[in-house]
Amino acid sequence: MDSNKRPDDMVRITTKELADKFIEEQIALLRQQIGSRKVLLALSGGVDSSVVAALLIRAVGQQLVCVHVNHGLMRKGESEQVIDVFRRQLGANLIYIDATDRFLDKLAGVSDPEQKRKIIGGEFIRVFEEEARKLEGIEFLAQGTIYPDIVESVGVKAHHNVGGLPPDLHFELVEPVKLLFKDEVRVVGAALGLPESMVNRQPFPGPGLGVRCTGAITRDRLAALRESDAILREEFDRAGLTKSVWQFFTIVPDYRSTGVRDSKRVFDWPVIIRAVNTRDAMTAVVPEIDWAVLKKITDRILAEVPGVCRVLYDLSPKGPATIEWE
Ligand code: XMP
Repeated sequence: MDSNKRPDDMVRITTKELADKFIEEQIALLRQQIGSRKVLLALSGGVDSSVVAALLIRAVGQQLVCVHVNHGLMRKGESEQVIDVFRRQLGANLIYIDATDRFLDKLAGVSDPEQKRKIIGGEFIRVFEEEARKLEGIEFLAQGTIYPDIVESVGVKAHHNVGGLPPDLHFELVEPVKLLFKDEVRVVGAALGLPESMVNRQPFPGPGLGVRCTGAITRDRLAALRESDAILREEFDRAGLTKSVWQFFTIVPDYRSTGVRDSKRVFDWPVIIRAVNTRDAMTAVVPEIDWAVLKKITDRILAEVPGVCRVLYDLSPKGPATIEWE
């Protein structure tokens, strides 16, 4: 039987009971596969790698080594949440690497979007490889591969796997959720007791905030992006929109516009709010957000985020516009 093919009669995991049964079965299988050996996992904090980490902690405990690479392009509070949940609450063996300077130095002056993606992806593999070489006796690499990654049927360019490691670093793969769809992974995550904000995390591109700080990334503009994104998330949460809107974030483009502050002319950045609803990310529509909510977000961004003098709401559907700005 092809182990990468979901059996036609496989029951869709929609309830806590079904998730508990899946978890029990996987724990037995993981223990059988891994025995007393060690497993390495790149833990981004996204739902897939988080669920794999939580499963492995239950199955093999301290034999799991998680590596969380902070590339400096995470949203506000995300790396902190990974440390809090996995190290403090679940007692995982977690290595945290703050590689912010390394990534931002490499990205300095680079404005081409594809080049930026290549640098971020390539540097991620190098940082991970360096850590893997420092560790001894690792035989397995765990990955949050999910079924759509295998059948490649969705438009979301998921990037879960640490593909591209040099051939001398050879690990046997451990992929416990590879036959599950995203909604099933979320049900399993909830049954494992992961926090709601992690389980229902909206899709976040592998290159993170890097593709939302358009053009050549600068630290001050990245800070404005991170702060405005945090305000947007807070206010969407408060307005009960987090569950009904598929993906939402801010963008800070690499040009300025004129404003006036304290009777003086300023030349500051605009912040663009992007919110979309979609089934598969191939096409998307823009939800009608209550004016009062948009106004509150605008007022807060203008008052709280330095260097910003204008806030816009992007009304463009996909297509012709893409969801991300670059
Ligand atoms: P676009 O902008 O192409 O995005 O309409 C569709 C979906 O894919 C996400 N996206 C990415 N995900 N690496 C990723 O892992 C990327 O380079 C990337 N670019 C876009 C985007 O957030 C949206 O959900």
